[in-house]
Amino acid sequence: MARVVNFNAGPAALPLAALEQARDELIDFEGTGMSLLEHSHREAPYEKVHREAIALLRRMLSVPETHDILLMQGGARGQFAIVPMNLLHAGKSADYVVTGTWAKQAHEEAVLFGNMAGAKARVVVSTEKDKKFARIPTKDELAFDPSAAYVHITSNNTLFGTQWQSYPETGDVPLVADMTSDLLSRPIDVSKFGLIYAGAQKNVGPSGVTVVIARKDLIAGGRTDIPQIFRYKSFADSESLFNTPPTFAIYVMRNTLRVLEEQGGIEALTRENAAKAKLLYDTIDASPDFWRAPVEKASRSIMNVVWRLPTEELEKKFLGEAKAASLVGLKGHRSVGGVRASIYNAVRLADVEKLVAFMREFEKKNG
Ligand SMILES: Cc1ncc(COP(=O)(O)O)c(C=O)c1O
Repeated sequence: MARVVNFNAGPAALPLAALEQARDELIDFEGTGMSLLEHSHREAPYEKVHREAIALLRRMLSVPETHDILLMQGGARGQFAIVPMNLLHAGKSADYVVTGTWAKQAHEEAVLFGNMAGAKARVVVSTEKDKKFARIPTKDELAFDPSAAYVHITSNNTLFGTQWQSYPETGDVPLVADMTSDLLSRPIDVSKFGLIYAGAQKNVGPSGVTVVIARKDLIAGGRTDIPQIFRYKSFADSESLFNTPPTFAIYVMRNTLRVLEEQGGIEALTRENAAKAKLLYDTIDASPDFWRAPVEKASRSIMNVVWRLPTEELEKKFLGEAKAASLVGLKGHRSVGGVRASIYNAVRLADVEKLVAFMREFEKKNG
């Protein structure tokens, strides 16, 4: 079997060792005579996996005791609704920084909930009109409402290839971040955040599980007039065993985190992710007449690198030939076009080296 080099935006590449472990244990999990897929979530074999997954996240991300780690379902889009359902109290307003399609949708969900619940969601600034989301706002554009319920940002904009290089200061207002496409790719000071959420399917595991890291006081003070299944408190009080969790997704996330920790954890990931992104951007920048990166340099993402070729025909040719060379998943999002390489944690430097070698060859022939 030949594995391709997978630059998918998500679900995305997983470490081979994490998949091999799942394969080897699929039918008989740790000598129990059944698959983990068949185990009760209320019994020791699964509970051990569940607790280890949470412990790995806590250790690798240095999550302080002030914050709970919750494993939920519904993906990041679920959190677009669940965040305001919990944190946007009647009479309050939340601030949204709109830096991409996901951020825009997060805001729209908060508006909908606010309409039902006597609250508001305001756009602090949007970078859609002036720059088609090709930049992160500057400090002076961020005039936050000091009485806001929270400030919501999207730390990495998966479609447009932009990323916050440092996080905004929000004073006493809790900072909420959608980190779906960059959680665990670089160090974060969790204590600066009220709440972080991420669909696991890019950097930390497969789809089906959503990681939420939230300050305990925010969880405790969450709205109680919402269904129990959407309350952070339900998950915090039950170690995320409020209802049947996505057991297999959490198991594969556990395997993935183990591999990433063995590779050196957040320090090694930070180093390698920076090297991968630098190699790719350097290659693009070296031939500005052929490759063009639309994102402002200061806003470039180290996770999703987007670029264009001189014509759409050449882009099509590039993607076709790349695929034939086993470099897959490079098509830009349908709303953006062009090329996008998603270089999450499980994509190694050697994989990006293969891509860059292919790019140089392609340029030589077509430039
Ligand atoms: C930054 C960001 N937020 C939200 C989402 C939506 O995530 P989900 O499909 O888990 O709802 C994505 C998916 O690509 C994303 O990249």
